[in-house]
Amino acid sequence: MTTGRGDGIARSALRIAQLSSMRCGDVTFDEGLMRAVIERVNRLGPDLVVVVGDLTEAGFRWEFEVAAGWLGGLEAETVVVPGNHDARNVGTVHYRQLFGDRFSRYRTAFDPWRADRLAATGLTVVAVDSSQPDLDEGHVGRERYPWIRAQFDEPADVKVLMVHHHLMAIPGTGRDLNVITDAGDLLPVLDEIGVDVVLTGHRHVPYFWGLNGMLLCNSGTTASRRTRGLVPPSWNELQIDASTIKVFLHYEDGRRELSVIRSRTTRARIREAFHVTGDFLSSNHIPIA
Ligand SMILES: [Fe+2]
Repeated sequence: MTTGRGDGIARSALRIAQLSSMRCGDVTFDEGLMRAVIERVNRLGPDLVVVVGDLTEAGFRWEFEVAAGWLGGLEAETVVVPGNHDARNVGTVHYRQLFGDRFSRYRTAFDPWRADRLAATGLTVVAVDSSQPDLDEGHVGRERYPWIRAQFDEPADVKVLMVHHHLMAIPGTGRDLNVITDAGDLLPVLDEIGVDVVLTGHRHVPYFWGLNGMLLCNSGTTASRRTRGLVPPSWNELQIDASTIKVFLHYEDGRRELSVIRSRTTRARIREAFHVTGDFLSSNHIPIA
C-alpha cells in the first residue's frame, strides 16, 4: 500500500486517482499524454487507482493488451471496470482474461491510527459493469441490486461505487442518450446503503453532483482527444479526510484544480468550482437566445 505525502493530516488522508476513457486503439489516443498521466499518478502516490471504463476503442484483444501495458506502469493498486467500448466485438471475453471479473469488490481495512484520523474503518469500492454488448447506453439491472447491497457489508467504511455510465446527465456534453437506464431505481438503493461517492466516466467531461449526500464524480477522458467543447483531457484526484471529501482535477498542462468539497459530517456540498466558471459555461453551453 502506497502512503500519502505532505503534512500530518495529508499523510492520513485517503487518496484515490480516477481515470476514464483511455480509448486505446482510437486514433485520438495520445501516448504522450498517457505517459504523463501515469507519471503524475505515481508521483501522487494514491492508495488506489480506479479506471472507470472504456480502456479500448472497440474491445479488440490487442487494444486490451495495450491498455494493460499502460496500467501495468501504475505503482498503486488498481481497480478496473469495463465501459461500452470495451463491450464491443465480444470484448468482455478479453477483458475477463486480462482484467478479471466485470463485477468486483475491493476492500482495505485501515490500521487503528488511520481509522481514527479518517473516522472510518476502511475503504470499500464496488465495481459494477454497466455495459451491454454492442450498445452505448448503460444498464445495471434490478437483479444486481442485492449483490451490490451485499458488497457494502462494512457499515463504517468509506463507501465508493464505480460504474462506467453516469447516473445523472452531465452538463456541457450535448444531447444525452446514455444515462443508466435504471438510474431511477438504482439511485435510491445507493442512497439507502449510504454510498459516499459514485465514480463514473463515459461523457468525457468532468462534473460533480451532490445528491442526497452522495457525491457523483464524473471524470473526463484521461488520454484521448475525444473532448467536448473547450474542456481538455483530465483525471480526478479524490482526497478524503475525517471531515471532507475533496476532488481535484488534473489537466494535461499540469494544473491541479480543487473542484468540489463535500462535508462528511453534513453530507452537503460546501464548495464548488470549475463547472460554474465562466470559461466552462461559455465554452460548453449553448446560450439561450
Ligand atoms: Fe463510454
